[in-house]
Amino acid sequence: MEINLSTSLCGVRLRNPLVLASGIVDTTASALLFALKNGAGAVIIKSICPEPRTGHKEPILHAIKGDSMLNAVGLSNPGLKIAVEELKNAKSRTKEPIIANIFASSVEEFGYSAKEVSRANPDLIEVNISCPNVEDEFGKPFSCDPDLAAEVTRAVKENTNIPIIIKLSPNVANITVIAKAVEQAGADAITCINTVGGMVIDTKTAQPIISNKVGGLSGQAIKPVAVKAIYECYKAVNIPILGTGGVMTGNDAIEQLMAGAVAVGIGTAIYTRGIDCFDKINQEIEEFMQENNYNSIKEIIGLAHKENKK
Ligand SMILES: Cc1cc2nc3c(=O)[nH]c(=O)nc-3n(C[C@H](O)[C@H](O)[C@H](O)COP(=O)(O)O)c2cc1C
Repeated sequence: MEINLSTSLCGVRLRNPLVLASGIVDTTASALLFALKNGAGAVIIKSICPEPRTGHKEPILHAIKGDSMLNAVGLSNPGLKIAVEELKNAKSRTKEPIIANIFASSVEEFGYSAKEVSRANPDLIEVNISCPNVEDEFGKPFSCDPDLAAEVTRAVKENTNIPIIIKLSPNVANITVIAKAVEQAGADAITCINTVGGMVIDTKTAQPIISNKVGGLSGQAIKPVAVKAIYECYKAVNIPILGTGGVMTGNDAIEQLMAGAVAVGIGTAIYTRGIDCFDKINQEIEEFMQENNYNSIKEIIGLAHKENKK
């Protein structure tokens, strides 16, 4: 039986459902191409903002038992000018999808970033809204407020013709409220989820381990949070979902597809299991499909929402 691993995200064909998540490798073309060479179906660049940013001082990462970690990298990146050249370079060297990722500190800056990054003609633009709005009196993250999230979505849409994916944060009371707001504002897709807020204290020094004190939890520990977010958003909106969070195995990926994702991001697994995890997870997905008589990924997407006929 011929197994078809391909899927599509906003009309962009992916040869398999595994997508390199943003921030796991840097903003260079060579790092993106390396992930594609190692089996990724599409790749997302690390978040880019208009001007270069150094990020937080070390320690910025802390490994947590069980394929998980806490990070507060502080969104270090070389700025739009350099990153756009890297995206152009990557685009010219592959036919597989290259996805940009932007963040900004104001609605206007999101619009500007969308316009600038579009010059590289990425296949899709992911919009990281998990950063605070400096124009807001309290510096509220765009991801936590439906009106702010919608404003960003509109500003990005007004400045590009490339389909946009709004990346949602799980650190909210009800993620579907944000999902609905960005869908209504014109988002072409959503990513569920970014990292979960967390903190680790070294009991010997009685101090937080990472320099920023608090950070984002990723990896296996957050997989159930991601599955719930995907499942709930699938019911709430009609735009496609890029699942992300804690995928380590083929079974983890299948779980997110069944919850309603059309493709699945791979992040922490690259740190804890190595770059060959793309090939391994794809192989496990294929074996699962063979054993369970599925011919194509499309048969699996959203299955958890249908009555169980097995
Ligand atoms: C070290 C690190 C850096 C990250 N940087 C970014 C980033 O720049 N932009 C972004 O949108 N997400 C960023 N993320 C979030 C991931 O893209 C992903 O949403 C999250 O880690 C959950 O997936 P995972 O459990 O497979 O790692 C980062 C995650 C990690 C672990």
